[in-house]
Amino acid sequence: MYLIALTVELLSSVLLLLPLLLLAGAVRRLPGRPDIRRVVRTAKVAYRSLLAALPLVLAKLVVAVLLLRNGVEFAARPLLDLLVIGAPLVLTLLRTAPVLRGLVRTGGAPFDAAAPVTAQRRARLAAARFVLPARLLAVAGGASAVLALTVPTNSAMATVLGVFALVGLVVVVDVAQRERALTGRPSTLRWPRPLARLAAPLVLALAAAGCGAVGVTGSAMPAAMSMTDSAGHGGHAMPTVGPVRQVTDLAGGTLDGPVRRFTITASQARLPLASGATVDAWTFGGTLPGTPIRVRQGDVVEVTLVNHLSTPSVTIHWHGVDVPNAEDGVAGVTQDAVKPGGQFTYRFKANQVGTYWYHSHELANEQVTHGLFGLFVVDPADQANPADVDEALVYHDWSTDRGSRPAFGADDGVRTRAVAPGSRVRLRFVNADSATRTLAVAGGPWRLAALDGTDLHDPGELRDETVAVGGGGRADIALTMPDHPVRVSVDGAPDLGYVLSPDGHATIPAATGGRALDLTRYGTPTGTPFGAASRFDRTYLVDLDQGLGFHGGAFGFVFAMNGQVFPDVPMLTVREGDLVRVTFRNRTLADHPMHLHGHRVLLLSKDGVAVTGSPLWLDTVLVRPGETAEVAFRADNPGIWMDHCHDLGHAAGGMTMHLGYEGVRSPFTVGKDTGNMPE
Ligand code: C2O
Ligand code: CU
Repeated sequence: MYLIALTVELLSSVLLLLPLLLLAGAVRRLPGRPDIRRVVRTAKVAYRSLLAALPLVLAKLVVAVLLLRNGVEFAARPLLDLLVIGAPLVLTLLRTAPVLRGLVRTGGAPFDAAAPVTAQRRARLAAARFVLPARLLAVAGGASAVLALTVPTNSAMATVLGVFALVGLVVVVDVAQRERALTGRPSTLRWPRPLARLAAPLVLALAAAGCGAVGVTGSAMPAAMSMTDSAGHGGHAMPTVGPVRQVTDLAGGTLDGPVRRFTITASQARLPLASGATVDAWTFGGTLPGTPIRVRQGDVVEVTLVNHLSTPSVTIHWHGVDVPNAEDGVAGVTQDAVKPGGQFTYRFKANQVGTYWYHSHELANEQVTHGLFGLFVVDPADQANPADVDEALVYHDWSTDRGSRPAFGADDGVRTRAVAPGSRVRLRFVNADSATRTLAVAGGPWRLAALDGTDLHDPGELRDETVAVGGGGRADIALTMPDHPVRVSVDGAPDLGYVLSPDGHATIPAATGGRALDLTRYGTPTGTPFGAASRFDRTYLVDLDQGLGFHGGAFGFVFAMNGQVFPDVPMLTVREGDLVRVTFRNRTLADHPMHLHGHRVLLLSKDGVAVTGSPLWLDTVLVRPGETAEVAFRADNPGIWMDHCHDLGHAAGGMTMHLGYEGVRSPFTVGKDTGNMPE
């Protein structure tokens, strides 16, 4: 779907340029013709090209709407193009078309002495109003089409938009002045013309440099996220009550269990997936994905991270594991990123049973994409594993030499495993990807045993239902092996699957067309330490928005929280012991899996509908477009904690904030010159 959409969209971009170029050429020739018939003929060509461009703008709009209806993440692209090409085109059209039409209309009239003046003046007016904008559109459209083909990234789009907006501004001023001159009105610019001419490009260059359009890669996050000064985070003062504690002092916790030691080395490697497609990867431990870590509840986990990569600094964040703050692995907040050649040891007690994962939290968007992540599972303490088959399906979309290949671990095809009928099976699905993925099981029945590591209460039997898992989220599938094959699939993909089969060979097609499971009514309720009716010490509303703005020194498409982008989003502040309620309101067209570090949150309601099934303890709360999600948590783990969208592209695009405990300070800072760039 995505590829088809992108192709259609690119074609329409290129097609749109043709009438525009024709039009610009035709309009430019207008004033030079003394013979009114030829002027008229040229005007006709111009007018028709204008009309031809319009349906193409509409076509782009339709593509955008179709993409959105099919939930394609990057539906913003055609909308952006519409902004770049469509909006100025329509505006210019509104002003130029009447002049062109006037010229066409006078075409039948006999040539007389007075006519050329009018016709020529009209022609000049049309030219002033169209030639420059049309050329500009052609350049912008062409640049955006080329960029879309070569570097389909948000930052490239941001560059185009930034430059375009500024060039547009200069052109608008220039056209306005020409028009005034043609219609005999005095210029509004006081400067003499040559000076003004010089000033325009100068202002343009300065502004472009200022907004980072000149080299997005060179843009930096402000280094001012220091939480050590009284201004607090992002310029929002944090009141101090009681003693001041440093993030670094909030380490370790009680470390009284059996110690499990791991050394995880980050290194570069070119590794194959099962199909033979190769990935130019950054790995944790030389494998795709990284070394799986599996411990028992109560174990003391000691992981030494060694960085053998040539340039990037790294960290390890324990996603969903409520470690003490100093072990949280967020560059610039809880530690400095580990530079090449350096190392860092994390120590914490594994208290929570369940399925988790770990990943670098330095340039997380880029590094997770490159492979710096791995599985983290905590088994119950002194209980034999009740499952006969217990396997993790760590889902990730790898970029390989054969294009992007979704895989479970490194299995980018359909893998079959022999399982004896009657076996108890637990499959731990980890969405180590940014986009929401739809999980389905064919050949069931099955149960959704856990979400984000926590077992659900009384999960009912499922057959055709599908479960949407946001980026970073986990879902455990439990089933008793039947005497026929069972298949786990993602997004109904026919060429990726995990098949359990009694004989190890027979397979079954992926499930398609299931109904989305309503998690708010799945399972049965059981006691929780607090709920919707509790008295909350703090309540926060977090609005999730998207739009155009400045972020990381560049102008472009941003994802905002409460109208701001990281690091300027005001912190949520709490006092230790507070009961906190946070309402996320998604006012964008994209999914946002909201991930709070250091705490599990209890989902209270979705769109005002209370959770009436099993309690849902989550660390990654999927908030879909237009949705409102209300969560609650106890502030029982002091520190400064990231709270961000786990669509890592969105987090990098600004959708990142912090939860800060009163009196906690961080000695670390983010920003390019510190080497700490958590997203
Ligand atoms: Cu899994 Cu802050 O991230
Ligand atoms: Cu998001």
